Amino acid sequence: MAEKVLKNRVCIIGSGNWGSAIAKIVGRNAARLPNFEDKVTMWVYEEMIEGKKLTEIINETHENVKYLPGHKLPPNVVAIPDVVDAAKDADLLIFVVPHQFVRTICSTLLGKIKPTAAALSLIKGFDIAEGGGIDLISHIITRCLKIPCAVLMGANIASEVADEKFCETTIGCRDVMLAPTMRDIIQTEYFRVVVVDDEDAVEICGALKNIVAVGAGFVDGLGFGDNTKAAVIRLGLMEMIKFVDVFYPGSKLSTFFESCGVADLITTCYGGRNRRVAEAFVKTGRSIKELEDEMLNGQKLQGPITAEEVNHMLANKNMENKFPLFTAVFKICRGELKPSDFINCIRSHPEHMTQPTPKCSL
Ligand SMILES: NC(=O)c1ccc[n+]([C@@H]2O[C@H](COP(=O)([O-])OP(=O)(O)OC[C@H]3O[C@@H](n4cnc5c(N)ncnc54)[C@H](O)[C@@H]3O)[C@@H](O)[C@H]2O)c1
Repeated sequence: MAEKVLKNRVCIIGSGNWGSAIAKIVGRNAARLPNFEDKVTMWVYEEMIEGKKLTEIINETHENVKYLPGHKLPPNVVAIPDVVDAAKDADLLIFVVPHQFVRTICSTLLGKIKPTAAALSLIKGFDIAEGGGIDLISHIITRCLKIPCAVLMGANIASEVADEKFCETTIGCRDVMLAPTMRDIIQTEYFRVVVVDDEDAVEICGALKNIVAVGAGFVDGLGFGDNTKAAVIRLGLMEMIKFVDVFYPGSKLSTFFESCGVADLITTCYGGRNRRVAEAFVKTGRSIKELEDEMLNGQKLQGPITAEEVNHMLANKNMENKFPLFTAVFKICRGELKPSDFINCIRSHPEHMTQPTPKCSL
């Protein structure tokens, strides 16, 4: 008698631009792999589009016409408006919502999911911790739902992934038993996965690079050139490394050379929505909120809120001056500094001030 294969059921929690692009991959992989149930549920935050429910449109046309128009989702991806209905039978929960909604979703799911389930978070951002400082989103998911949570971050602009243009991604997963399942449901010929065990650093890279992208947008808006943008990217990377070193010691420098690190930083500083809105902010003088509403058609901006969350941590520890780029982005977004002050804020960066002798190259 043939051995019965245990099939993992997958639920995607979220259906924005990235959620829909990843649903295309996950749906196809679930249908082709023997250890996954064909049907993939996708929780959709219900909204009306020209008088019709978005879930109905997705289930009838297999297209998320609002967040990923022009791309078909596999028919085995089923849109469900109730998050508990979508998640209750799942073995793998893929979280892909803007980070500000995670706590509410987790409290709705508490006690209603399989206790043996595992999570994979694609969410880039932090939350403010109750006692001060910041919380990683994967830690919130694990604490609230009492399940393990790996992370996926990388140079993955959703529209390009949906177009099936070759790219890489990083999965941070400490659990060696879970890692192959996470990789198998995600990897395709055009979306290549590297798994590392440095979960926290992977996630922190994904959140912090959005702050740097806002800085890159400022220099574009101010009319500086590629050299200036490269300096912003490099100084931003140094602040990312320092942040991890100070607040999450024990992480590995090699993680910054994975797709989640330097590659994501570069793509976001050239192609992402944070850069685009920050450039418009400088050029038009209008508020970030107004521009987000007008330019992004319901998509959410992560950089300015992440800058605020990080500043909460830095100000608490009296460390704002050690992270001048993160601090300047925060203050400019809040209107406490002008965009034209940005370069002056990073001109005397600690990176430029600490070298009486040449740096050792190792
Ligand atoms: N888009 C990308 O290129 C990309 C790439 C990698 C990672 N990410 C990350 O993925 C995460 C999700 O981003 P996205 O691009 O899929 O979303 P998005 O910004 O395109 O869309 C916003 C989503 O939030 C939902 N929403 C609105 N109000 C809500 C509410 N009150 N409660 C719950 N949901 C609500 C909307 O229905 C929509 O699905 C973010 O953390 C983002 O940083 C995005």
